[in-house]
Parts: sequence; C-alpha cells; structure tokens
Amino acid sequence: MTSTPPLNDAVRAALEAAVRVPSPHNTQPWRFETGRDGVEVFLDRQRVLDVVDPDGREARLACGAAIFNLRLTLAVTGWASEVSLLPDRCLPDHLATVRLTWRHQPGARERELARAIGHRRSNRRPFTERPVPRSARESLIEAARVEGAELALLEHPGDLDAVAALVRRAERVQSEDPDFQAELRAWTVNGGPRDDGVPLLAGGPRPAPGSLLTPRQYDAHAPERPYEGEVLVGVLGSGTDTPLAHLRSGLALQRVLLTGTTLGLSASFLAQPVELPDTRAALRGLLGGRTHPQTVLRFGYGFSAPATRRRPVDAVTRPRESL
Ligand SMILES: Cc1cc2nc3c(=O)[nH]c(=O)nc-3n(C[C@H](O)[C@H](O)[C@H](O)COP(=O)(O)O)c2cc1C
Repeated sequence: MTSTPPLNDAVRAALEAAVRVPSPHNTQPWRFETGRDGVEVFLDRQRVLDVVDPDGREARLACGAAIFNLRLTLAVTGWASEVSLLPDRCLPDHLATVRLTWRHQPGARERELARAIGHRRSNRRPFTERPVPRSARESLIEAARVEGAELALLEHPGDLDAVAALVRRAERVQSEDPDFQAELRAWTVNGGPRDDGVPLLAGGPRPAPGSLLTPRQYDAHAPERPYEGEVLVGVLGSGTDTPLAHLRSGLALQRVLLTGTTLGLSASFLAQPVELPDTRAALRGLLGGRTHPQTVLRFGYGFSAPATRRRPVDAVTRPRESL
C-alpha cells in the first residue's frame, strides 16, 4: 500500500473525527503518529488528570472513543481497518495500531453514525420531560454490547435513587477537595484562545433544590434551575478493569453516544462516583458486582448545547519515524 493522496485524505478525515470525542475536562489526552499504512495512537501522559484520574483510566476511555471514530471514519471513506489494542506489552502508552487493510463499501448504518460525530456534544443543560422510548433504550444497550461492554440503564426508581445518592456523595467530596477544585479550575475556560478545557458556557445550571441529579459544577455562579424529573441514567461497565477493558469501554462509550445522537438524544456525564474508590465500589455493588463501572451517563431530549474546541490535528500528530 502506498501513501497516495486519497489515503492521506482518509487518514486526515479520520484524525479530524478522532479528536472530536469527549475527554475528561476536555484534556484531549492523545497523540497520533501516521505511517504508510495507518495510524498509531498514544496516551499523552502529560494530559492525564493527576487528581481526578490518577491511573489514566478516564484518559484511556477517551482514547478508546477516539479509536472508534478513527475506525468508523476510515470505513466511511472507503477503508476497512484492523485495530490492534495495546500492541506492545513493553509500551503501555502505545494504545493502538490502526492499520488500513482493504477497500471497503460503507453501509448505511456506518454513514449514519459517522454523520453524528460532528453533532455529538455533552449537553449539561436540563432536558425535557419527554421519556426515552423503549426502542431507543434498547439501541443504546445494544451499542455498548456490540463493543463488548455493558450499559445498565437504571429503570427502577430505587436503583436510580441509589445511584443519584452516590453522585451527590461524590460531588460533595470533590467539591470540598481543594486539589480537585484547583484541577477543575485549571481546566475551566472563560473565553480566550485556549483550544482545550471546558468553556464556562458549556457548563449547566446549578440544580434547583429537589433536583435528583447533581451535575459537576464548572461555574459556581451559574443560575439555579430544576433538572428534568424524567431522568434516564445508565452505567457503562466492563467485565474486567484492565487498561484493555478501559480502551474497549471507550469504543463502546463512543458507539453509545453516537447511537444516541442518531436517535435525537442528548447525553451528559455524571462520572463523579466512578472517580472515587469508595463510591465506585458502592456503585459496583449496586449493579450486583458483575461489572466494573467505567462511567455514568444521562440521556434525554435536550435543547442545543455549544460545541467545545479541540487542538488541531497537526498539533497532535506527527509522521511515524521509519525504523
Ligand atoms: C471519561 C469521561 C468522564 C467525564 N466526566 C464528566 C463529568 O463528570 N461531568 C461532566 O459534565 N462532563 C464530563 N465529561 C465530559 C467532558 O467534560 C467533555 O467531553 C469535554 O468537555 C468535551 O466536550 P464535548 O463532550 O461537548 O465534546 C467526561 C468525559 C469523559 C470522556
């Protein structure tokens, strides 16, 4: 395979899509190297959050999501690819090799998911009270399953209340932790030229008293508003809790989010209870101990939410040095 212009175009389109995925505090913890026949994906250790993500688990979720977008975009530009996760046991930050294999005729579903990439965003605003129908719930669950993860939707009020209580507990612990707050402030952006971090405008309102959910607060002065009473929350989990499982969960995360986007659903994260060891263990217990929680998502029908910025592809990509 030669590095012809069409191949370069496909790789560039795939990288543009890869960087659109969600990442904790919009840290964008990835690096890419391009070679003659594909892309190498690396964890950027300097962008792993020390306080909230000391093991890099959430950063690997984000990179797994980026790998999903890479694979999907290559497919819709006419290339099948072979993805090998953690290809080198001696290099744990070398997360994936994505190798273009043969020409591929994209299907309608691939095109639909790929079209959703630019429309997906974290929508932290209150959603409407319109319930998410059963068929959409099943599609979200199936999206996680296809990638080898599990999405447990909390359909029983008792489960939802218990998880909401864990979110509240974790949110309180984090909001009282000066190190957590300092890190959050460092990644919250109020205008200016930065192309990473979470813009204040993308934060949600503070929940009015009586709201079940306690989203992460990026702006202590945000107005107070009630969140939806018709709440749909899901816990994305994996059978093991290894770096490989984190990457696979990231692929599943992105398939779930894009599937939701194609169904007109908005989503946001409530990751707080997964970020602290004791609330994470309690969450695992609530799910019957069968799955390791990787993140918590909220789904619903929302109004528009702003897009956040990304570092340009050229700032995170370099050609692979030939050996
Ligand atoms: C693993 C993970 C955990 C996250 N946790 C939270 C969270 O607890 N609260 C929140 O509001 N956003 C959370 N986010 C969303 C990011 O802040 C968001 O993806 C980033 O700011 C980029 O914005 P976008 O998703 O709209 O593109 C999380 C994202 C990831 C990948």
